[in-house]
Parts: sequence; C-alpha cells; structure tokens
Amino acid sequence: MTRKTLRIAMNGVTGRMGYRQHLVRSLLALREEGGLDLGDGTVLWPEPVLVGRREHALRALAERHGLDAEAVSTDLDAVLADDTVDIYFDAQVTSAREDALRRAIAAGKHIYTEKPTALGLPGALELARLARAADVRHGVVQDKLYLPGLQKLKRLIDGGFFGEILSVRGEFGYWVFEGDWQESQRPAWNYRAEEGGGIVADMFPHWEYLLHDLFGPVRSVQALATTHIPRRWDERGKPYEATADDAAYGIFELEGGIVAQINSSWAVRVNRDELVEFQVDGTHGSAVAGLRNCRAQHRSATSKPVWNPDVPLSEDFRGQWQDVPDNGEFDNGFKLQWEEFLRHVAHGGPWSRDLLAGARGVQLAELGLRSSAEGRRLDVPELTL
Ligand SMILES: NC(=O)c1ccc[n+]([C@@H]2O[C@H](COP(=O)([O-])OP(=O)(O)OC[C@H]3O[C@@H](n4cnc5c(N)ncnc54)[C@H](O)[C@@H]3O)[C@@H](O)[C@H]2O)c1
Repeated sequence: MTRKTLRIAMNGVTGRMGYRQHLVRSLLALREEGGLDLGDGTVLWPEPVLVGRREHALRALAERHGLDAEAVSTDLDAVLADDTVDIYFDAQVTSAREDALRRAIAAGKHIYTEKPTALGLPGALELARLARAADVRHGVVQDKLYLPGLQKLKRLIDGGFFGEILSVRGEFGYWVFEGDWQESQRPAWNYRAEEGGGIVADMFPHWEYLLHDLFGPVRSVQALATTHIPRRWDERGKPYEATADDAAYGIFELEGGIVAQINSSWAVRVNRDELVEFQVDGTHGSAVAGLRNCRAQHRSATSKPVWNPDVPLSEDFRGQWQDVPDNGEFDNGFKLQWEEFLRHVAHGGPWSRDLLAGARGVQLAELGLRSSAEGRRLDVPELTL
C-alpha cells in the first residue's frame, strides 16, 4: 500500500462548520481510519494546514488534535504560494469566501468549499469559469444529500415507490434565541445582510441541490422572505438591528411539474420529529423524510378520512406510517462527501457537485430574494458556463 499525502489548507476552521463537521468529523475521522483507501493500492492521507486570522486559536486547535504545530498560518497568500499544498478548503463567513476562492484558483489549487460560494450570481459563475479555465478540480458542500433520512428517501424514489411524484413539502427551522436573556445559538453575522447573512442565502442553496438531485431542476421560484425578529444581541451581548431575513416561505416549480413548498425559519418552535422534514406525496405512496428517519405510507395502507369537525378523531394518522429501515450504516454526511471529493481529486472522472452547481444555489437564493422584494413568481433560467 502506498501512502499519498494531500495537504489541505483549511480556512475558517475555528468556525462552527469548519471545526466540527469538516476538521473533526471529516478529515480527522478519516485519519483515525488510517486514511482513504482508493482501492488501487494507494491510501490518501489528508494533512490539514490550518489557516485563519488568530494564530493562537489555530495553534491551540493543532495541539488539541495532534496536528503539526507548524502547519498553521494567518497568511493565506503564503499558504497558497506553497507548492506542497494541494487543496484549498473554505468554511469562512460567506462574505469572505469569493475573494479567497479566486486567489486559491489563481494559485492553481483544487477547491473545496462551503456554500454559498459567493454573495451574488455573477461572482459565483465567475468562480466556476475561472476554475474550469485553470483546470483545477472543484467541489461544493451538498451535505444534506448524504443524510440518512434523505438517503432513505432517495431509495424510495429510485425503487419507484411513489408512482408519479406530485409535491414536496419541507419544514425547516427552530427558534434561534435573540441573545438577550439566553445566548443565541447562531453567529450574529447570520442576521446581518451586509455580512452575507439571511436565511434565504443560507438555506436556498441547500434546497436547490436537494430538489435538483432528488426531484428535478427548479424552474420557477416564488418566495416571501421576512425578518420576524428585528432586534438581536450579538456574541458580546450588544444589541443590533437584524437587517437580514430570518424566515422565508417559498414555492418552487420543478421541471416535470412537481411543486415543492419549503418553509425556512429561525423564528419557529419545533413541533416536528426533526429540525427539517420533507413530505413527498405521489400517486402510489407518500413519505416523510428528516435528517435521520424516513416514514412511508403506501396507497394500499392509506386511510380514508371524512371531514367532520363534530366528532372526535378516531384514527391515529401518525401511527399509520411505516419506518423505512436503515439497511446499512450511515457515516457522517460531510465526511462522505469529502471522501468522494478526494477520490475525484485523485482520479478525476465525472463530478457534478462543483462550482457550477454552487452557482445554481446562489442563483436560487438571489431570485428568491428578488421574488420576495417584487412580490412575483420568477423563472429560474438554466445556467451554463
Ligand atoms: N453545509 C451546512 O450545512 C452549513 C451550515 C452552516 C453554515 N454553513 C456555511 O459555512 C460557513 C461558515 O458558517 P459558520 O456557521 O461555521 O460560521 P462561524 O461564524 O461559526 O465561523 C466563521 C469562520 O470564518 C472566520 N472568519 C473569517 N473572516 C471573518 C470575518 N470577517 N468575520 C467573522 N469571521 C470570519 C471565523 O474566524 C470562523 O473561523 C458559511 O458560509 C455558512 O453559509 C454551512
């Protein structure tokens, strides 16, 4: 077995996503497994180079996880100029991303990045064009597709369970504390439009790849985005005005006619089994998929309710659904996509979760916000490079 080291510059690794999901649960987990076996006698060994603004925080992270204490830097250009660095990964705040990705592409690095890839569509498309011209490999995080609940939903779709799929109803959200009497569980930049915040910018990119991959490309969007909580308190306990949307009510028409309606909100209290759930209704069956679980109801087991508010409910509707079995073990979704991307870097071959796909997410967010501002439904044109 030959071991091939891939040095991966990780920027934004002190953040929520960069640290927990990408460093600890993905790359460090891969190292604990001995690296990524490519199946051709080679094992890929990811070697993180931690990049950020605070050297002491990066050093502390390196130390905590037994990483090379010298492989930390606050100088992105120096890291990008280092020929031993193969991949640039970005999990910074959204507003810092586009510039860093451009510099990394210009330096000839392969790119892996969180979403959204840029603040606007022109920038997102330009990144895809630049990466193609520079002939580097590029990937954008689409973690939701790898979640157990959605994998089970995909199994139902692939197995023809639904017959003709008619509609998708998504509920995403939870209460994000304002930050005064209880600390907020999300960073304050999420609620400032000028810093790349907003639930549309955050969640519509997820809805785009999810709908696209499972049901078909989005052809139109109608959304109402709003700021339910106008005043919040930041990490230092200082009050600020929330300038970004914290809830969005969207309707998406998909190619082929499926209608998807997804509510996204940081101002809703959870009365669901999971933080996100999608109900899919088809002519032959329906299913409700969340992060981990998926329940289904075949048409042969569908009850026949009759509307009569005068009599108490006699049926347990929820109890009539059947759990879709795991039929296997599910690894962390972020790690699974890292593995696919690293294989792609090593071997090339077809790969769809790229910067063009990332641009589609940015496009849907942009059109969603425009639809809301203008109060009308908008077509979503197909993107090409
Ligand atoms: N795939 C997902 O499910 C998912 C979930 C949440 C967030 N995200 C994306 O990941 C990115 C990071 O989100 P997060 O929730 O981890 O944010 P965070 O605030 O916890 O972390 C942000 C990181 O960026 C760094 N940073 C660089 N420049 C900065 C600046 N000018 N101001 C503040 N921080 C700066 C911080 O040091 C930190 O390491 C965002 O682009 C977000 O859209 C993705």
